[in-house]
Amino acid sequence: MSSDRCKALLSWYALHARKLPWRETTDPYHIWISEIMLQQTQVKTVLPRYLGWFEAFPTIEALASASADDVLKAWEGLGYYRRARFIHRSAQMIQSDYDGRFPNEFDDIMKLSGIGRSTAGAISSFCFSTFTAVLDGNVKRVLKRWYAKPETGDKELWLLAQQAIETADDPAIWNQAMMELGATVCSAKSPSCEQCPVQHHCASAFHVDISKEIRKPVA
Ligand code: ADE
Repeated sequence: MSSDRCKALLSWYALHARKLPWRETTDPYHIWISEIMLQQTQVKTVLPRYLGWFEAFPTIEALASASADDVLKAWEGLGYYRRARFIHRSAQMIQSDYDGRFPNEFDDIMKLSGIGRSTAGAISSFCFSTFTAVLDGNVKRVLKRWYAKPETGDKELWLLAQQAIETADDPAIWNQAMMELGATVCSAKSPSCEQCPVQHHCASAFHVDISKEIRKPVA
């Protein structure tokens, strides 16, 4: 069952989404590497590095048998280097426990190093079309604004995210569209409500109070 909000978001996504190379594939190895790169690194920094990764390590097997130094070198410039160690360790685990094939069960994806519920939700929906929500920083902000609940904690946000994805026909496109909306129109510092496809379904439209959203550092 697809809601009006869902239809509006998906029509907008179909017209306005950025063309990104990891959106052109459902190959788990490619999707996995892109999602780990995108965890803490901006799209514009990941873009020139994404394809190069697969030249260095064309398969999960090649990655698993590479040296730690070579993996770290391939990660240079992306920051947060423990992600490179997680990827290397996970590749070795995929070789030993899953016969070299990226696991297709959500619970097995979650067992890989460096993959939490949100990243597992993204990979699983993009590769295997499961109705598993993404809840990264952008999606959290979108949901808090839709429901005008800036203080909502993760437990409730996960429920809202899961309810929302279940209104979609295609969970992969839904997750991409939610991330796209948060990364572009529904940005942290200057949301463009006048351009927003779901302004009529958003409790905060045109009066987002950014001062209530920005988390204050703990003293
Ligand atoms: N950030 C995390 N995952 C992403 C994706 N698939 N596309 C764009 N930005 C993202």
